[in-house]
Amino acid sequence: MTDHSATFEAVRAGMIPAHIYNDKEIFELEKGRLFSRSWQFVAHESEIPDVGDYVVRRVLDDSFIVSRDSKGEVRAMFNMCLHRGMQVCRAEMGNASHFRCPYHGWSYRNDGRIIGLPFHQEAYGGEEGFAKKGQTLLPAPSIDSYNGLIFISLDPNAESLKDYLGDFAFYLDYYTKQSKGGLEMRGPQRWRIKANWKIGAENFAGDMYHTPQTHTSVVEIGLFREPKAEKRKDGNTYWAGNGGGTTYKLPPGSFEDSMRYVGYPDEMIERMKETWSPEQLKVIGENGFMVSAASIFPNISLVHNWPKVEEHSDEVLPFLTLRQWQPISENETEVLSWFVVDKDAPEEFKALSYKAYLMCFGSTGMFEQDDVENWVSLTNTAAGSMARRLHLNSRMGMKIDGSPVVPALGPDEFAGPGEAHVGYGEYNQRHLLERWVDYLEREPNEVDAVSIGGLVRGNVGGTTCDSPCGDATTE
Ligand code: FES
Ligand code: FE
Repeated sequence: MTDHSATFEAVRAGMIPAHIYNDKEIFELEKGRLFSRSWQFVAHESEIPDVGDYVVRRVLDDSFIVSRDSKGEVRAMFNMCLHRGMQVCRAEMGNASHFRCPYHGWSYRNDGRIIGLPFHQEAYGGEEGFAKKGQTLLPAPSIDSYNGLIFISLDPNAESLKDYLGDFAFYLDYYTKQSKGGLEMRGPQRWRIKANWKIGAENFAGDMYHTPQTHTSVVEIGLFREPKAEKRKDGNTYWAGNGGGTTYKLPPGSFEDSMRYVGYPDEMIERMKETWSPEQLKVIGENGFMVSAASIFPNISLVHNWPKVEEHSDEVLPFLTLRQWQPISENETEVLSWFVVDKDAPEEFKALSYKAYLMCFGSTGMFEQDDVENWVSLTNTAAGSMARRLHLNSRMGMKIDGSPVVPALGPDEFAGPGEAHVGYGEYNQRHLLERWVDYLEREPNEVDAVSIGGLVRGNVGGTTCDSPCGDATTE
């Protein structure tokens, strides 16, 4: 294995070895050291509202059934039959009380327990020969949720999701908790792009700098009320916990003025006032910063924007989207893009907001098309031998001595947690890649096999499994 310490050291200094955006060996490290430990978004509770609802989602190569079991509890189960390894559930979503393996017919309840085993007596000697009781599809090693967003981790000793998000949760609420009723997610749209997964995450975390250049045409056709894309330099970037994002600077006014300015109806504004903390209201009202794009390390991004949606009207309307950059390889990513809207929003708002989302993002969105062209080109160029000689400059906002070009905003200027700077800077891209180095430098966890029937004692992430492994549920 190549020694990557020089690569990691350069990344920490804000000089990025270009090959990390298209390097097979780096991707193997990411699989073994990053995606095997970090929290991964798999679904929102609104996608499985009823008992028996399920969706099938992946964490890289591992498929999981995320279901609401017959008791209403949310489960995430490795989608591999305990018998000979067939993928148990082949549909992408649905409602089922049981899953039957297509290969030989073993069947499982929607909480993962084996319920049926064809020719149990003849083939295995019945319960005496092989007890079904206590055998379940392998549960995800860790599962947790925030605002109904369900995450799993392949690390059985993962810190809580709350600790992992840290102070970024303050900002996540703007996107995912606009009322006490919570949110609805529609989708996901899924498509593949020939680009490395990190580029999207970095772009949405803090790249306000690309907007005037990459998205010129979208601004020129008058999709936005703000006349100049250059306006982005007046916003700030913030980083807190395991995530960070960008904001727009609003015209002076109260919280209500600010939310009306981006197109929220009064009834939604009233609910936000009842839901968000005084500091969350202050960031938008008194400080005048409206959240825009953001990323949660490693591969989730969020967008909030407010284009004009109806022809011949200057009215704008906001939309929200959550997207996941699901790695396929070092040079291919599956994008999963969900439309997000407050559950209690008026139906007319939901319809127009969905239209706004589709115009801007999603597989045919104007912003999406502009962005992806850059990312594919970058990925292709990063594969060559010359890219191995180049360190990309990711030091924007930082002087040669490491001090910031623009000092961090004080608490009177920005009431949100973490560190925030006005203007263009690559603070957040650096934070994101520093986290990336933190994970890649650590040795992988020891995770041994789990076998059913208690015939092999497994060691799962350091926890010795004395009882029949996979015994997550009992009658
Ligand atoms: Fe599933 Fe045999 S592989 S029943
Ligand atoms: Fe963009």
